[in-house]
Amino acid sequence: MSSALLDIHLTDDDADIALRADARAGLTASPKELPPKWFYDAAGSELFEQITELPEYYPTRTERALLERSVHEIAAASGAATLIELGSGSSAKTRLLLDAFREAGTLQRYVPQDVSASALRLAMDALALEYPGLALHGVVGDFTKHLHRLPGGDRRMVAFLGGTIGNLRPAQRARFLAQVRAVLEPGEQLLLGTGLVIDEPTVVAAYDDAAGVTAAFNRNVLHVLNRELHADFDVDAFTHVARWDREHEWIEMRLRAERAITVRVADLDLTVEFAAGEEMLTEISAKFHVEGVHAMLWAAGFGLSRSWTDPDNRFALTLATAE
Ligand code: AVJ
Repeated sequence: MSSALLDIHLTDDDADIALRADARAGLTASPKELPPKWFYDAAGSELFEQITELPEYYPTRTERALLERSVHEIAAASGAATLIELGSGSSAKTRLLLDAFREAGTLQRYVPQDVSASALRLAMDALALEYPGLALHGVVGDFTKHLHRLPGGDRRMVAFLGGTIGNLRPAQRARFLAQVRAVLEPGEQLLLGTGLVIDEPTVVAAYDDAAGVTAAFNRNVLHVLNRELHADFDVDAFTHVARWDREHEWIEMRLRAERAITVRVADLDLTVEFAAGEEMLTEISAKFHVEGVHAMLWAAGFGLSRSWTDPDNRFALTLATAE
């Protein structure tokens, strides 16, 4: 029907191997931890969508309003012909970007990248109808592993929105940005969304909502392990913890075992003991200062950076140009 391309660099088997490796490493580590990417099965993705609607969870609506206000300036400053969106999912922000870049008259191609082939196919089918004339080239891959497989072409801008870079630790973040820089030619760009450091009660509430949706999202990773690895986590024995780490300026989400518990992970042939009160780290979500964002981009080989922030200084969009 359309001239859409889809490159697949990540299969269900690859994901299964990665989950096994992450679960084995994380459950045998001290303290225990699991990477946040395993939150997002169908149920977890649905819970995340619900989180974005919560009164306490300000990041999504703040970034969206900020993008609405600044997207024309961003498009004019960019002039990109190819828009590459990392972790595109079903993003509603995509259309804001596509509309503005199309109006600016430069856009020829959209390259969404996501770990989920099914989400990508759905999104691309809808976009093919809504944007006839726009070339679509989907990439199924992991943004921390398959950046070098992104298609070439001229005047590309990579968009990485949502503040997801905050899920990476400082060293991973630096490596990720250096990889993005390495796939770009001088003059090509990165548009980065980052949550900013704000007052502690507001940021903690965003990750510990009254309705308990974030708690369900956090615990969902145990359902994922039960299903995918035939583990026997008693999910109700774990409670949600969200804490602001002042030194690192990040939110930590943890799952706390409310009693001593033994978990069998059949597919890993692994038995894991949790002490009463033991906490397992499931996510960090770092917040930034605008100057810090510029410094980290500069360290990765980006030159000129320009940022847009919302009136309450809760979120920033930064357009950086590869040197
Ligand atoms: C999708 C990674 C941006 O870190 O704020 C929401 C995920 N975790 N509530 C974030 C999340 C808990 C979210 N990101």
